[in-house]
Amino acid sequence: MAKILKLKVWRGGRDGAFETYELPRQDSQTILDAVTYVQRRIDPTLSYRFACRVGMCGSCAMTVNGKARWTCRTTVSSVIEEDLLEVAPLCNLPVIKDLVCDMTHFFEKWDETGIPDTNLAFNLTWHDWINLKNLILVSRAITATAIARENSCGAHYRADFPNEAVAERSEYVSVISRDGRFDLARHPVHFTRVRPGESLIKNAAA
Ligand code: FES
Repeated sequence: MAKILKLKVWRGGRDGAFETYELPRQDSQTILDAVTYVQRRIDPTLSYRFACRVGMCGSCAMTVNGKARWTCRTTVSSVIEEDLLEVAPLCNLPVIKDLVCDMTHFFEKWDETGIPDTNLAFNLTWHDWINLKNLILVSRAITATAIARENSCGAHYRADFPNEAVAERSEYVSVISRDGRFDLARHPVHFTRVRPGESLIKNAAA
């Protein structure tokens, strides 16, 4: 196995072009691992999507060597051809940037599926459909609030806003889903029982 992986990644919109990156090749490396390495170590402006990393949500889907694949489930070794690995956005959706597609049309079509609400019989597929739709709505709401943050704190690190949040001026972001859009608002955190640096455990803050 070669020690270096040459990864061609689509950059820009639909009229963009491939750029080639070289990164370490590893055992059991997935395509998503490789794309993540490029974004974390080589070019933080690379845009792509993923969520579960365990092959459940489908958000990591990209075109790999010409074929649509879930990149968190696809190992480099299973698809590499003559040392070439080419990763592009899905080909049947408009490209927003790099490996990220506009999913609006997909979700519109998705809304047209399902089971008529005139049938009240217990239907597992219908329940799954509602659960999945709501899970994705909640995921999008969480993502919207994370994007609204303008500082880094704890596990939430943003390269574009590296300054740490000031605990005394902590704020939280609320989100309301309304007519297909998210309304966000910032609110100060009112510390009632424990202030930053304090603890309810005796002597623990010392
Ligand atoms: S990240 Fe969820 S299926 Fe790949």
